[in-house]
Amino acid sequence: MDKENLLKSLSMKINECKRCGLWKNAFHAVPGEGNPDAKVLFLGEAPGFHEDQQGRPFVGQAGKLLTSLLELIGMKRDQVFITNVIKHRPPDNRDPSQNEIGSCNIWVDSQIEIIKPTVIVTLGRYSLNKFLKGAKISNAHGKPIRLSSKVILPMYHPAAALRSEFIASQFKRDFQINEGLLKDPDNEIEKISKEADENQMSLF
Ligand code: URA
Repeated sequence: MDKENLLKSLSMKINECKRCGLWKNAFHAVPGEGNPDAKVLFLGEAPGFHEDQQGRPFVGQAGKLLTSLLELIGMKRDQVFITNVIKHRPPDNRDPSQNEIGSCNIWVDSQIEIIKPTVIVTLGRYSLNKFLKGAKISNAHGKPIRLSSKVILPMYHPAAALRSEFIASQFKRDFQINEGLLKDPDNEIEKISKEADENQMSLF
């Protein structure tokens, strides 16, 4: 099966997922969407109200900001893949529990396995801590980290940028300074390996 069909069949399984209790209060599952051949995968936290209504990731205000910053650096949503650590909306947008995150891991890991992105942009602390346990977003944001064959690029969550002008300016800057990596990851990845060791020490 090709990547597109593998992702479709995975989405069908996610739509029926009852591995934790979140499905009970959700209207739709939100498996994720985008280019099956994407070099860059954006990983958010969990669907909110609008995502739950539509079954699509990042379609509310936070999503509009994310889309506008992609466009600022000359990219389109359909070039990348966008998904979340959690595939059903937690009631009242509460933080996901460790049990819910653990139950959902299999879906994110399978998506990464199928797409094989070069860069994973983590949006917020839950997706950052999936790859770098205990890392602080305030230290890690904007600095790409080489993790075996992939690069993790930590960023603030766009919802945090909507709440704070300071975070909004940092979020925008992180897109601008990483424009080359986001647009042409395979070309930039070698440079990252050299800088990664220096960055690693300042994350925690
Ligand atoms: N916040 C997220 O983390 N993901 C979405 O899909 C929407 C808002």
